[in-house]
Amino acid sequence: MLNERIRIAVLVSGGGTNLQALIDAQAAGKLKSGKLALVLSNNPGAYALERAKLAGIPTAVIDKKKCGAEVFEDRLIAALQENGIDLIILAGFMCILSKRFTDLFRRRILNVHPSLIPSFCGEGFYGLRVHEAALERGVKVTGATVHFVNEIPDGGEIILQKSVRIFQNDTPERLQKRVMRQAEWKLLPAAAEKISKELLEERKA
Ligand code: GAR
Repeated sequence: MLNERIRIAVLVSGGGTNLQALIDAQAAGKLKSGKLALVLSNNPGAYALERAKLAGIPTAVIDKKKCGAEVFEDRLIAALQENGIDLIILAGFMCILSKRFTDLFRRRILNVHPSLIPSFCGEGFYGLRVHEAALERGVKVTGATVHFVNEIPDGGEIILQKSVRIFQNDTPERLQKRVMRQAEWKLLPAAAEKISKELLEERKA
């Protein structure tokens, strides 16, 4: 029991390239303190589910549109507990979690956000919208952040950040890809390993 790895659930809604970065890190032995134990989506059509299946990771779908916000969280909590999950990673998960949920998993939920928090974050800033806002504002540097999740959207303690340059002819799509490639896909596996390692050490203490 003491030598077991930290059981990680990855929560997704869409394409799942950040999930893929975690899967690749696990395959390469870079995620060694944690194990990807469950991929859970609020969206039955998320391509991330296919990525999980290809990697042999158990999947679950809880359709928030069908069951409503409160039942959704009840089912989410039940699935996490049934699977013995220690650490939750939000990887392109487009649902805001309640204080009840974040209090239950305090310092055990990580999120990757495609900007340098506190810029371009909080409610309404997700996906491509974040990069559109950065280009509209004319900033010259953006990046990505991995942080703990609390009741304030994108407001939890920052774990890792990496900056990315913006070029004059950037489009939101081009910028999104550069931020993913240069920052998100590196930061998220690194943060997953860092926090899993810390949790393992805590368990052994
Ligand atoms: C990523 O850029 C992620 O940082 C962002 O959505 C994208 C999901 O892509 N998340 C947010 O904006 C959350 N506020 P993916 O499904 O390919 O990982």
